[in-house]
Formats: sequence, C-alpha cells, structure tokens
Amino acid sequence: MSQTKVNDELQIQAVSHSLVRSAIAGIGVSLPSKVVTNRELEKLVDTSDEWIETRTGIRERRIAEPNMTTSDLCFEAATKSLADAKLTPQDLDLIIVCTVTPDTPVPATACILQDRLGAKQAAAFDLNGGCTGFMYGLATASQFVSTGKFKNVLVIGADLLSRITNWQDRGTCILFGDGAGAVIVSPSKDQAYGLLDFHLRADGSGAPLLKVEAGGAKLPASVITAEKRQHFLQMEGRQVFKFAVHAILDGVNTLLKRNELTVDDIDCFVFHQANLRILENAAKQLKIPSEKIISNVQKYGNTSSASVPIALEEARREKKFKKGSYVILVGFGAGLTWASALLRW
Ligand code: ACO
Repeated sequence: MSQTKVNDELQIQAVSHSLVRSAIAGIGVSLPSKVVTNRELEKLVDTSDEWIETRTGIRERRIAEPNMTTSDLCFEAATKSLADAKLTPQDLDLIIVCTVTPDTPVPATACILQDRLGAKQAAAFDLNGGCTGFMYGLATASQFVSTGKFKNVLVIGADLLSRITNWQDRGTCILFGDGAGAVIVSPSKDQAYGLLDFHLRADGSGAPLLKVEAGGAKLPASVITAEKRQHFLQMEGRQVFKFAVHAILDGVNTLLKRNELTVDDIDCFVFHQANLRILENAAKQLKIPSEKIISNVQKYGNTSSASVPIALEEARREKKFKKGSYVILVGFGAGLTWASALLRW
C-alpha cells in the first residue's frame, strides 16, 4: 500500500472512531380521520373493490379534508415524536421535511413547521426523494448526529398525495393516501444500538416512470397545463412494480452482506407500503417469513414518504421488535430512488 493510501486509511479509522452512533429516540404519526373505502372509489372511476384488493391489498385509505395542509400533519406527527423522545421544540437543531407535496413551492414546509413548533434553534429544509424521501432524510439526519454537529434532528415523511392524484385515472387513484410520520434522531446511549448502516441509491434513467410533468421551471403552471391535467402524478405501474421488488432485494441484501447478517438475524422488516403484492413478492424471494414483514397498506394505501415511519410506529406498538432487535427499513420511489437502513433497536 502506498504511503498516501496508508495515511488515508489511518484518517478514515480515526474519523470513524470519533463518530457518535445515532439512534431513533422518538416516533410520532399523523393520519387524517377521513376514511375512503374502495367502494367509494367505484363511484369515481371504472374499478371495483375486488380488483383493488386483489391487485394491491388496499381496502381503504385516509384522505385529508380540503382545509388541511402538509404542515398540519407534520405538526401533529412532530409534536408526538418530541413527546415520545421527551424533548421540547427548543431541543431541535435541525428539521428535515421529506415531501413531494409541500404546502407551497416556496418557502420550505420545514420552515413553516419550524415557526409553528417554535423550534427557535433549528435549521430547516425540505427534501424531495419521492417515496424514498424519509429514508434519505433519516440517513442525512444520522450523518449530522454522528459527526457531533447536531444533537437532535427531526425527520418527517409527510405527503398529501391526494392533492396531486388524478382522480380520473383508475391506474393511480386507487393506490394513494395521505399521512405523516416523524422520528427524532439523537445520539445513541450505547454504541451497540441505533442506526448501524445505510444504503442509498438512485437511477435517474427511470425518471419518466413516475412523474408530475408541470408546475416546475420546465413547464410552469398555465391554463393549458391545468387543462391537460399535467399537475397530477403519472405512473407506469408495471415497470414501477418490477423496480420496487428489485429495490427491496438490493436494499436488504446489501445491508445483510455488508454487516455479515442473515434474514434469520433480522426481527422485523419495514418496507415502503406501495402494494401488498410487492411485499409478498420480495418476501418470497428473500425467504422472509410473513410474520416478520410489516404490512398496513390495507388500511392506509401508499402514503409516499410517510409510509415507512407510519409502519415503524405500528410495528413498535404491536411489539414486532424489542430492545436489541435488528430491524431493516427500505424505501423506494420516484427518481427512481431507493434506500435501506439497518438499525438495532
Ligand atoms: N380497476 C380495474 N381495472 C384496472 C384498474 C383499476 N383500478 N387499473 C388498471 N386496470 C386494468 C388495466 O386497464 C388493465 O386492463 P387490460 O388488461 O384490459 O389492459 C388490467 O387492469 C391490468 O393492468 P395492469 O396495469 O397490468 O395491472 P397490475 O396488475 O400491474 O396492477 C398496479 C396495477 C396496481 C398499479 C401495479 O402495477 C402496481 O402496484 N405498481 C407499482 C406501484 C408502486 O409500487 N408505486 C410505488 C412507487 S410510487 C410512489 O410510492 C408514489
């Protein structure tokens, strides 16, 4: 090994020894109270309760009332996660809101939330990672905590996909729901527990598979874009399905291999809740017993960036893991993007 490489290696070792282990210190969830069943969607588009449940597993979803905003859901989820972590808004150093449906394009929803919480010390920004947003946000928060730069980071996955859903398109409108899930990332009390590893990927060549065409700099909002319904989410369902299964396999296998673990060592798998068939397909290929896979897509549909923290909170409540358990989280979505995390609770 050359002297430069030896020096680099020593430097990396020195840095990793000085890193703080980060951990999830609190979780909070917010879901609109209004339930929309598959039967109600039968009145909007040519579909059936039976088709939706057989192809997706979804039975109902939560849809926000018209006066509700993304920051409203963020506020409730954030308040609950702070209480869970026994912290106050003044303890926050950074707020990351992961969303594709911010209250407004400018300013960031994270800033609206920062003000509403009264988190005077906190920096704030939004992150657009599609449905992978929360996982990208979690990894970002972890880096800030690990380096010692920040102590408490609030990460929220929040989306009102109902606002960008084309309610005339049966290929997409049956899938989505609204919600928010928040976590607090703080230093772990014990180096052996917490967020152990991340795997983050993107493949921009898949951008056309999942997109909102108008409303950005390329195609600003106009009467024409509104008439053409270009402000709504468009998706190539079959291709996204294949990508989603690949994303879960890559996310899980990479973390298992790198950390010398097997499926048997993991107590709980929390995957993005897009479609029950995606979860079942991936579980079969990975040989994961069904009881280790969290699925709540039946109740909430695909809540985009919120789905992983909502499912994590549900898994914790149902005691699907305990202190010392290994848990793997995987998100995937527009971009295309995907990301996984290994944590020891
Ligand atoms: N009701 C009834 N029939 C329907 C509906 C509906 N809601 N939607 C489509 N169909 C029809 C189609 O027109 C087609 O009819 P044809 O055979 O006469 O042409 C037939 O059903 C089959 O259509 P497919 O699109 O092949 O159905 P598929 O089994 O692939 O299911 C689905 C579609 C549910 C969208 C699936 O492809 C899927 O889940 N894809 C992945 C979505 C996803 O993972 N998104 C996550 C990332 S995106 C994000 O998180 C924001």
